[in-house]
Amino acid sequence: MTKRVYIATYGCQMNVYDTARMVELLAPLGFGKVQTPENADLVILNTCHIREKATEKVFSELGKIRALKLQKARRGDGNMVIGVAGCVAQAEGEEIRRRAPFVDLVFGPQTYHKLPDMVARALGAGATGVIDTSFPADPKFDHLPRSRPGQGVAAFLTVQEGCDKFCTFCVVPYTRGAEYSRPAMQIVDEARQIIAGGAREITLLGQNVNSYHGKGPDGEAWGLGRLIYALAELPGLKRIRYTTSHPRDVDDELIAAHRDVPQLMPFLHLPVQSGSDHVLAAMNRRHTADDYRRIVSRLRAARPDLALSTDLIVGFPGEDDGDFRATLALVDEISFAQAFSFKYSPRPGTPAALATDQVLDATKTERLVELQSMVGRQQRGFNRACIGRALPVLLEKRGRHPGQLVGRSPYLQSVHLAAAADRIGEIVPVTITGAGQNSLAGTIAA
Ligand code: SAH
Ligand code: SF4
Ligand code: F3S
Repeated sequence: MTKRVYIATYGCQMNVYDTARMVELLAPLGFGKVQTPENADLVILNTCHIREKATEKVFSELGKIRALKLQKARRGDGNMVIGVAGCVAQAEGEEIRRRAPFVDLVFGPQTYHKLPDMVARALGAGATGVIDTSFPADPKFDHLPRSRPGQGVAAFLTVQEGCDKFCTFCVVPYTRGAEYSRPAMQIVDEARQIIAGGAREITLLGQNVNSYHGKGPDGEAWGLGRLIYALAELPGLKRIRYTTSHPRDVDDELIAAHRDVPQLMPFLHLPVQSGSDHVLAAMNRRHTADDYRRIVSRLRAARPDLALSTDLIVGFPGEDDGDFRATLALVDEISFAQAFSFKYSPRPGTPAALATDQVLDATKTERLVELQSMVGRQQRGFNRACIGRALPVLLEKRGRHPGQLVGRSPYLQSVHLAAAADRIGEIVPVTITGAGQNSLAGTIAA
């Protein structure tokens, strides 16, 4: 009989990738993925620790899962094994064991390759729970299955993990550990596997993806640009993207790849966080607002149709009104196709959380509202400017309505259109007829 595993995924694309890997690891044990936790034999929360009350959310979710576990046992339906994975598990593993002793497995992002063994132990008689939040010296990638079918038309591929940048607001260097780049040929091989399974687009992932410096077949350290040139040689791979990049690590070869590689999509997520040099310095971003402007103009010179997206934080400690105006000015000047903005959230264990000049929450809210109204305007404007154009759209999946498919434009906009489901995986020219805040509508061009 097949067993059922339910995995809830929070946070960034790396967690989405990790969840897919966990499903692959569990398949040989007879686990099949299910969409709801009610009847699952194994429930895993793959958690995120980046902002606010993340830990409390996990505990409240765990309370609900525990009730399902009790109901299942009462029905005589067997045991439900509960696991917590991801960045909250890494940061708060001991506290989870203490406050939620019914949790069977706690494991961090670097140890999930041991999942089959952990699950076997948790299912064993007299099991008392497993906790593994170590940072093994041996990279987990060497222990993951090579075959990767079923990743869909647009797939993720982690090329780099961890971060050595230590921005003063951020937990990632603590939850994901030191930077590690996978060997280039291991990545090319995984890309081949994913393409063989039907993928047409691959997004290369890393917390800091353009700090990639994996070992190439020539023994040299390859940068991300070099890796992209190599991946562009793979037959069947029509689109390449990468995320999340850091302005400090945009080098000449990466800019050249934007100029030379047609498969590399003209859309780049490049977080800037703030437009104020004083705040950027306090954040330890190690670049100025002008550095950012220069990088953007070099990228736009290389690829004139490049659209940009970014992340912004308001209310970082010490941010005054002038600093915030500098952020607005930068956003106004660059004009982003998309932007994610957040109120600064003090994270335990990070230097900025200890700063004495914290900004009042009411001020953060005011600034967030003002900033979001500007980026919302830019995003709607960018989407509206697509009306009347014919954009190549990769058809990804069925839409909500019968006969409808959803695809992606080069700029990562969702595009809704009428087409038969057997066309999923094709890239078709679509005349854009409508634009909303978050998506486009169109018809396949003759
Ligand atoms: N590696 C990426 C970002 C990873 S976290 C980079 O260097 O840009 C994703 C985004 O969450 C960040 O870009 C930042 O805008 C936001 N973020 C991270 N920590 C935060 C915090 N403590 N408070 C508010 N936003 C935060
Ligand atoms: Fe966090 Fe900064 Fe590293 Fe990005 S570069 S993951 S924001 S520490
Ligand atoms: Fe969250 Fe961890 Fe990603 S904290 S954003 S899941 S790296």
